[in-house]
Amino acid sequence: MMVLLPLLLAVWVSVPYGGCSLYPSCVEPPAKWCSSIESAVQCGVLKQCLESDFLRTRQTEDPVQVGLYYESLCPGCRLFLTEMLFPTYLLLNEIMSVTLVPYGNALEKPDGQKYIYECQHGKQECLGNMIETCIMNMTEMAFPIIFCMESSVDVIGSAESCLKINTPELSMDKVMSCVNGDMGMQLMHQNALKTKALNPPHQYVPWVTINGVHTDDLQTKAMSSLFTLVCSMYKGTKPPACGGTQKLHYQSYCHN
Ligand SMILES: *[C@@H]1O[C@H](CO)[C@@H](O)[C@H](O)[C@H]1NC(C)=O
Repeated sequence: MMVLLPLLLAVWVSVPYGGCSLYPSCVEPPAKWCSSIESAVQCGVLKQCLESDFLRTRQTEDPVQVGLYYESLCPGCRLFLTEMLFPTYLLLNEIMSVTLVPYGNALEKPDGQKYIYECQHGKQECLGNMIETCIMNMTEMAFPIIFCMESSVDVIGSAESCLKINTPELSMDKVMSCVNGDMGMQLMHQNALKTKALNPPHQYVPWVTINGVHTDDLQTKAMSSLFTLVCSMYKGTKPPACGGTQKLHYQSYCHN
């Protein structure tokens, strides 16, 4: 999958979307090419989809729940989200779920019926937190979009193109009407409540919870290899990506 994603993007870039392309019936954005056999065929990537885990969307019943409390412009948060959490999720999405709570060390002050927010890295960070919060409320493709934003040089400036690549049907205008409206404020207030409810209270960000629990030990393990941690915490049959005892046998012989 790690290999496949850049490949899909490369093919995507070389075939103008919606234009005169090799696969004119391919109407889905690349992130959805493997979401069904039909679209995989239409987009000419069936072989790649079958070789990857994309078509196996079934999630196990008892996934390891990873929570990330973070801020959109905090360098350590960006590093963890883009280099640890997202890659781990790509490999282990069958056995893990991710909850992102962009708020972190922000402060919330009541102002009449509303709330005012102050963010550690300034107004731009509040805006980034809000954009990401609204996107999470508006599409199931939020994680790839947030990954795209957080891995860009300009987190906020990249939002529009990150949306276009992953969810062409969701416009930046729609997201901004959430950001500037009551909905955004309601959702940010929920982030504030979730962050304030942390027990023990967070001392820094990125702050990680595993199945709702934060300990120094879990945090240290998550920061050094979230992948190993999730594989070891998962109670069901480990997926092949985790390696270990489950061996795959590709060889079969027809004896004479
Ligand atoms: C969006 O937020 C509203 C208000 O909190 C909530 O009722 C709704 O379920 C959310 N939708 C999604 C898809 O998260």
